[in-house]
Amino acid sequence: MSSHDPLLAESANTTSSPLSAADVTADRVKELLRSNEELMQLNAKLSDAQDKLMQSEKMASIGQLAAGVAHEINNPIGFIFSNFGTLERYLGDLFQMLAAYEEAEPALAGTPAAARLRALREKIELDFLKEDIPSLMAESKDGITRVRNIVQNLKDFSRVDTSQKWVLADLHHGIDSTLNIVNNEIKYKAEVVKAYGELPDIECLPSELNQVFMNLLVNAAHAIQADRGVITISTGADDSRVWVEIQDTGEGIAKENLGRIFDPFFTTKAVGKGTGLGLSLSYGIVKKHFGSIDVFSEQGVGTRFRVTLPIQHPQEV
Ligand SMILES: Nc1ncnc2c1ncn2[C@@H]1O[C@H](COP(=O)(O)OP(=O)(O)O)[C@@H](O)[C@H]1O
Ligand SMILES: [Mg+2]
Repeated sequence: MSSHDPLLAESANTTSSPLSAADVTADRVKELLRSNEELMQLNAKLSDAQDKLMQSEKMASIGQLAAGVAHEINNPIGFIFSNFGTLERYLGDLFQMLAAYEEAEPALAGTPAAARLRALREKIELDFLKEDIPSLMAESKDGITRVRNIVQNLKDFSRVDTSQKWVLADLHHGIDSTLNIVNNEIKYKAEVVKAYGELPDIECLPSELNQVFMNLLVNAAHAIQADRGVITISTGADDSRVWVEIQDTGEGIAKENLGRIFDPFFTTKAVGKGTGLGLSLSYGIVKKHFGSIDVFSEQGVGTRFRVTLPIQHPQEV
């Protein structure tokens, strides 16, 4: 009997039947099978976690890539925008000049120059051009302005142009630029209602808080299964703290899940849709800001997340 196996050793001591050793071996085998099963489950969980980590890693690099591209686009967009202004002025001048020529035209009546002008005017459809050019310019300017805003929002969002520093910042500005970034996720699902109060600037890492708002907004949009819902963003402050609430009319959170939603990798979404990291990251960011994040939810009615942050960090003692 191998003395290093307490199970077998013990049973050998307490019983004299030769069958019992076989029974014990069967038990042992069962136990081994069970722990093997456990190991396999653990292994599956690990590889699942690894998949999710890779997914989030990918998302992080996509974010960085987007920020980098925004940075690169910013410069050409800048000069296109400013050239456009100049071009608009020049065009105005040219139109003025053209009007002056047209006024002087009757003096040319009967000359070959007058016939040439008339032919050219018809060929290039001058009247149409005079109407179409300003509207083309306006449309293009609108397009460039939109691209410029997207780039600005991306830059604000990721703060690529500033290093991670604690600064005093306006949360409404952060929420608005985040809203523009996630607009695509939201606009087909929900109306966004802003109920902003008065907010003082607060001591924060703006791009990190933007991540929190983004996670809450995207989760809210994901929760809306009905045709269309409403996402309400409300803010307010007292003497020492500010709060931001993001409320949706989505499916709500099951009671048994409420305690787990901040756990890393907890998700009820399909693979590829959710990583289960959004809320756990948000929780970490809010904690780092000495704040708190609370959730109120009713299934079938909706969910409200409330982020409370101090205006200034507590003084260390
Ligand atoms: N606004 C919400 N409405 C309903 N469920 C939510 C909401 N926000 C979060 N949840 C639940 O919490 C889980 C974890 O959220 P999160 O950490 O952002 O991960 P993910 O969105 O990738 O699933 C979600 O899968 C979902 O079940
Ligand atoms: Mg999420």
